[in-house]
Amino acid sequence: MKISSPRAICPHQRMRLGVCYYPEHWPEEQWAKDARRMVETGLSHVRIGEFAWSRIEPEQGRFDWAWLDRAIETLHDSGLGVIIGTPTATPPKWLVDRMPDMLAVDRDGKPRKFGSRRHYCFSHAGYRAEAARITRAVAKRYGRHPAIVAWQTDNEYGCHDTVQSFSDAARDGFRRWLEARYDGIGALNAAWGNVFWSMEYRAFDEVELPNLTVTEANPAHWLAFRRFASHEVETFNRAQVDILRELSPGRDVTHNFMGFFTDFDHHAVAADLDAVGWDSYPLGFLESFRFSDAEKLAYARQGHPDIAAFHHDLYRGCAATGRWWILEQQPGPVNWARHNPAPMAGMVRLWTLEAMAHGAELVSYFRWRQAPFGQEQLHAGLLRPDDGSAPALGEVAQVASEIRELGSLGSAPRHVALIFSYEADWVTSIQPQGAGLSALWAAFDFYSGLRRMGLNVDIVHPSASLDGYALCVVPCLPIVPEILLRNLEQFKGQVIIGPRSCSRDSDFAIPNGLPPGPLFPGKVARVESLRPGLEHCGDDWQITQWLEHLETDAEPELIAGDGTIASWRAGGIRYLGAWPTQNLVHELLVRAISNTDLTTHDLPEGLRLRQAGDHIFAFNYAKDPQAVPLSVEGELMLGERHVESAGVAIFHNIVTVPHIDQNLTGISKA
Ligand code: GAL
Repeated sequence: MKISSPRAICPHQRMRLGVCYYPEHWPEEQWAKDARRMVETGLSHVRIGEFAWSRIEPEQGRFDWAWLDRAIETLHDSGLGVIIGTPTATPPKWLVDRMPDMLAVDRDGKPRKFGSRRHYCFSHAGYRAEAARITRAVAKRYGRHPAIVAWQTDNEYGCHDTVQSFSDAARDGFRRWLEARYDGIGALNAAWGNVFWSMEYRAFDEVELPNLTVTEANPAHWLAFRRFASHEVETFNRAQVDILRELSPGRDVTHNFMGFFTDFDHHAVAADLDAVGWDSYPLGFLESFRFSDAEKLAYARQGHPDIAAFHHDLYRGCAATGRWWILEQQPGPVNWARHNPAPMAGMVRLWTLEAMAHGAELVSYFRWRQAPFGQEQLHAGLLRPDDGSAPALGEVAQVASEIRELGSLGSAPRHVALIFSYEADWVTSIQPQGAGLSALWAAFDFYSGLRRMGLNVDIVHPSASLDGYALCVVPCLPIVPEILLRNLEQFKGQVIIGPRSCSRDSDFAIPNGLPPGPLFPGKVARVESLRPGLEHCGDDWQITQWLEHLETDAEPELIAGDGTIASWRAGGIRYLGAWPTQNLVHELLVRAISNTDLTTHDLPEGLRLRQAGDHIFAFNYAKDPQAVPLSVEGELMLGERHVESAGVAIFHNIVTVPHIDQNLTGISKA
C-alpha cells in the first residue's frame, strides 16, 4: 500500500524539482537556512545520504544517527520531501581493512584501492552481507519517517568502470553461474566453440575469467562474463530493494543510471524499481563521448541537442512503470570531462523543461552548494562555496514557477519505436570489427535522425509491444529474441532493420542460415568494415565504416554511384546494410515515413521538438535564434516562434500540417 504524502512524487502530476544535498559537508547551523532557501527557490525535494556511511557508522557497529535525525527533521520542517540513498557506493575504511578482498579487481588484475568510491566487488559475499546490513539499519531508522518519500539504492552502478571485477569472488561466482546456465561442461564447450584453439574445459571449475589472455579471449566467453557481471549488479540491487520494500512501505525505490553507459542490463535492473533515475550532464557527455570536434565546439555550452532527450526516452523505456526522474542535473561546469565549460545562460532552464516535455516526474540538481574540499571542488552547484548564488539558481527559480503555471501535460503520442538492447551493445563492443562501431551509437544516430524530423521516439526493449507506432526501427540488434519476430509479424507500420541484426545466436555464433535470418529475406554473404576514406557515394549520402553484401531478391533502394547497394526493401520492411550515418539515415527515414501518416517537420540546425499531450515544445540548442517551422501550428503559450538561443517555445492546442519532402517523388506506399 502506498502511503500518500503531499510530497510523494506522483505520476500525472506536474513535475517536481529537487536538489542533491550533503548535510554532513556543512555546519549544522547552516541546514535550516539552506532548507528555507531551497523552498524559496521553488524546490520541493532534497536527495541526501548516499555517501554518508563513515558518518552514520564511524566504527563497526557504532552508529551515530543523531546528526542525520536532525538533518532529516530540519529538511522536513521546511516542507521538503527527502530522497535518501543507501550509502553502499562508499564503504568506509574500517570495513575495507577488515575485509581487504572485498575490493574490486581491474582487468589488469590490480585491486581498486580505498580512497575514492565504488571500490567494492559486486560478487563478494562478505560485502553483500555488509551492504544488506547497512541498508537494513538505515531503512529501519528512517523507513517510516514521514519526511522520506523515496529511496535511491547505492549510487551510479558501474561509474568509474566498476561493473566488471576480475576478483577471485567474481571468478567463483562466474563458474557457479555458468554451471546453472549450461547443461554440463560439454554443452558449454559446444556452445562457445571451445574446440577452436584447444580451449576446451573438463569442468566448470576450470573456467577462468576472460582477462589477461595472450590475445583476445573467445567472444562467447566475454559475452557470458558480461551477462554474469550484469546479473551481479541486478541481484546486488534487488537485495537492497527487497529490504527497502519490507521496511519502508509505500516509498518509491529508484537508482540513478548514467549517460551513454551500457555495462549492465538497465532493463533488468529497472524491473525492480518504481521509477528509473538518471544523471544528466549534457556538457560533460558531449566532451567525453564520440561527438565530432565540430559538434563539440558548436554545442560546447548547450550540449548536443539529442544527448539529454536520448536518455530521457531510453530510461522511460527501461522503466517497468514508465516513471522516470533526473536525480542529478548539471547546473554549471562539471569537474570530470576533458574540458568543462559553463552552460550558456538559459540552458539549465531549457534542460529542465525538456525533461518535463519527455515526461520526467522530478528533476533534481546536482548539487546545492559547490564543495570547497574533496574531489569535486571545481564542480558547480546552485550556490557558490561562499553561499553566493551561482548562475543556475535564478534559472531554477524561474523554471520552477513556469512549471507550476504549466501544470501537468497529457501523455505523449506514439510515433516511432526504436529497439535497443544492452546485450546488442555488448556484442558490438566485444567484436566491433571496425573502429567506433557500436549498437549504442547506431541507436543514437537513428534517434538523432528521427528527432531532426520532429518526431517523438520511444526507445524500447526488444520485447516491447509495438502497438500504436507507425514506424519501428531496429538500429543494430545482433541477438533477436523470438518475441520481437512475433511482434514484427503482427506489426502494421513500416520497419527499418539496421546492420548486424540477427547476426549472432545467444552464444555468439553466426546462425546456420546466415543473417538477417527471419528478419528480412536474404543472406548476408560478406561483411567488411571500411577505413576512413573508403566510401561509396550516393546523391547526398555515403556508405562509410561498415558494409554488408546481401544475396537477396528484395528490391535495392539506396544505390551508390558505383552500384554498391546500401539498402533494400521488401514491402514495408527496409534493410540497411551500411553504417547508419546521418545522411544515410535521413534518406532511409524519409522513404519509410512517406509510407506512414506521420507528420514530419523541416527543423533548422539545433532546433528540436517534443509533443506531449496537446503541447509541442520547441528547444533551441543552436547558437543563433531559430524559427519553429510553420508546419507547427497552435497557440503560443510560452516564448516566441523565433526561439532565441537556449530558448524554449511552447505551443498548445496544436494542429500539425504534414511536411512534404521535396526529394520524395515517386515513392509508392507500401
Ligand atoms: C555523478 C555522481 C555524483 C557526482 C557527479 C559529479 O556521476 O553520481 O556523485 O560525482 O557525478 O558530476
